[in-house]
Amino acid sequence: MPKNTDHTNDIATPVGVCPFAHGAMSSIPKDPHGCPVSSEADAFDPFSPTYQADPADVLRWSREREPVFYSPKLGYWVVTRYEDVKAVFRDNTLFSPANALEKITPFSSEAEAVLKRYNYGMARTLVNEDEPAHLERRRALMFSFSPEELMHHEPMVRRLTREYVDRFVNKGKADLVNEMLWEIPLTVALHFLGVPEEDMGKLREYSIAHTVNTWGRPTPEQQLKVADSVGKFWNYAGKVLERMREDPSGHGWMKYAIRRQKELPDVITDSYLHSMMMAGIVAAHETTAHATANALRLLLEDINTWNRICQDPSLIPQAVEECLRHSGSIVAWRRVALEETEIGGVKIPKGGKLLIVNSSANHDQSYFEDADSIDIFRDNASEHLSFGYGSHQCLGKNLARMEMCIFLEELTRRLPHMRLSPNQEFKYLPNIAFRGPENLFVEWDVNLNPERTKPEILDTRQAVKIGAPAKDAIFREVVIDQIRHEAKGVVGLTLKNKDGGDFPRWSPGAHIDLLLGDFSRKYSLCGDNRRRDTLEIAVLKEEEGRGGSKYIHDNLKPGDQLRIKGPKNNFRLDESANRYILIAGGIGITPILTMADRLAEVGKDYCLHYAGSDRSSMALLGKVQQDHAGHFECYPKSEGKRANLQAIVSEADADTRIYVCGPDRMIEVLEELCESLPENVLHFEHFAAKHEAYDTSKDTAFDLVLANSGMVVSVQPGQTALNALRAAGVEVESDCEEGLCGNCEVEVLEGEIDHRDNVLARSEKAENKRMVTCCSRAKTQAIKIAL
Ligand code: FES
Repeated sequence: MPKNTDHTNDIATPVGVCPFAHGAMSSIPKDPHGCPVSSEADAFDPFSPTYQADPADVLRWSREREPVFYSPKLGYWVVTRYEDVKAVFRDNTLFSPANALEKITPFSSEAEAVLKRYNYGMARTLVNEDEPAHLERRRALMFSFSPEELMHHEPMVRRLTREYVDRFVNKGKADLVNEMLWEIPLTVALHFLGVPEEDMGKLREYSIAHTVNTWGRPTPEQQLKVADSVGKFWNYAGKVLERMREDPSGHGWMKYAIRRQKELPDVITDSYLHSMMMAGIVAAHETTAHATANALRLLLEDINTWNRICQDPSLIPQAVEECLRHSGSIVAWRRVALEETEIGGVKIPKGGKLLIVNSSANHDQSYFEDADSIDIFRDNASEHLSFGYGSHQCLGKNLARMEMCIFLEELTRRLPHMRLSPNQEFKYLPNIAFRGPENLFVEWDVNLNPERTKPEILDTRQAVKIGAPAKDAIFREVVIDQIRHEAKGVVGLTLKNKDGGDFPRWSPGAHIDLLLGDFSRKYSLCGDNRRRDTLEIAVLKEEEGRGGSKYIHDNLKPGDQLRIKGPKNNFRLDESANRYILIAGGIGITPILTMADRLAEVGKDYCLHYAGSDRSSMALLGKVQQDHAGHFECYPKSEGKRANLQAIVSEADADTRIYVCGPDRMIEVLEELCESLPENVLHFEHFAAKHEAYDTSKDTAFDLVLANSGMVVSVQPGQTALNALRAAGVEVESDCEEGLCGNCEVEVLEGEIDHRDNVLARSEKAENKRMVTCCSRAKTQAIKIAL
């Protein structure tokens, strides 16, 4: 029998009781409440209407200034930044999901008595059980979520969507939530589970009661009603299960689970099945209904994007993914720390309860460029945390994606002229976990319905692919507007969107990937980032390079069309310091200049040091001289001037940030010179990957031991650790796959790393704790990683 270590009673600080050891913290500045809880943290109320309407916006202050804070109102530690939220999701041994379904508002004894009358006994299910039970059951029950199995549901989703739209297409208005988005996912959920499609109205009431019961703040009077509905839901789930047991043959996840129970009675128990039945009905439909309503609202508010997907429905999967990132239906989830630990530099006590806010993480500007905007060409949108992350990631995510794609396909094809009804107020059911409007009113002119003149559109279909859209297939089409001589050997390219629209906002240090035939190259953006209609890059012709810059210099001309990815930013400017040293070598001036522009704009103390072989080959020199006079030092080698790096960084302290982009040697020297400074002082970006410098012919095989599951993945010579993990079905994110961005990094617990990346600092490499899986290897026969 799988053993769960039950952590539900690992008591954290009770609500309203300050968790800080005041006597020991006399040196920490106090706020008016007498403890280190800031006034913003003290005021945080996840049930407030403003938070319910836009949680990511309400938590902006936290992402920017206090990314992990204690909420006295909630009795939880709130985690809001992308990397921290993801790290908590990833570590399912330190952070238990045991409290994921715990009532956030404890019930009165009267309400508890009501539940007792119904013998309510919700046990641990896939979302809130610990290892090893969780993985054992997950493996036993995964079959129904395989792409082949999910494809069985496509015809039904299409048929239902067609029928529901038929009902209102000629009416000219609809409440999409009540007339379509709630019922179709519920029907699909029941079909998926193998539950008969009856009592739909009751199930909606039960679902809402379950949400309020677990994640809401019902009044004592409401608690009695909620308890009654939850009790009835429990009994209903039990009866359906009994009926199913009589004949568990055929399609349906619960029927499959009943059959598996016969093979694995100790793994899949009776109480487990009963609980899964109830949780499954809620999990499989409410989240999809909310996510689609959020997506439609978002797209109809951004009419250019809506029109774009109406014209080109092949963009729908990436629109769905971006909407899931921007406005997914799962706002936050919960964990409990099993040991004292630190998150984002904040000490969390053993038993500390965590509210990890997915929706805030998805708007983290340090991870998603122009995070608050919707950008359907964002190629890392699928890295959102709306489905969670790691071993507890939502099992039904691909069913939800498929439904959302089909809903959008049908609506964009049949009602492209649909608009949000004006002056509607969006209301949300107050709770900490799920978010979607209770109504979504839309209207349109029925005389313009395309099917009236072109009935054949009803029969067109987009092929549905299971899963998130492949990153490789997401790109922007641009046109070269201008090519100009920027300096000796350097050309400047101005790019415009092929359709004439605006580009997303980008931040200093950002780059784009230029896709040129079968290869891609990264170029830092160097224009004015307040201009949205163009992007500018400068390209140095590298005779000894890999061929990308030569191709650009020798072949491209104004009017040519190109594909690009981004903008993205792996070299982000930390604006919180008081003093800045910017150092550029040669073409490294491109990201550095955008940083200088920003620092000048916000009035920071900065100095830009620019070294090159001679003035005629130093790109953008005129602009630097003009815009940064008084903050600028120039070092043309031809004039005998050399940057004395030691002197330049000698005054740097913890409140200084040094940004450098230039040749490898320059960066290596600066890394040595800054060794004694705190690690957040020096930031650098290399021109390009350098793993051709390694002799890969001597690569040997090694093993990756996955700490969470004990799985062993062999990495063969010539194969990257990243590809070996993927081939074994382990999801690891990546972006550049050249050792430049750090996206594919994993934490190393044992073994010695052969670092080959350009992203970790020397000190980080020496620590031997992080491995960049797209290029680095092992010096030891095996490496244990935190996956
Ligand atoms: Fe960019 Fe590995 S994917 S460093």
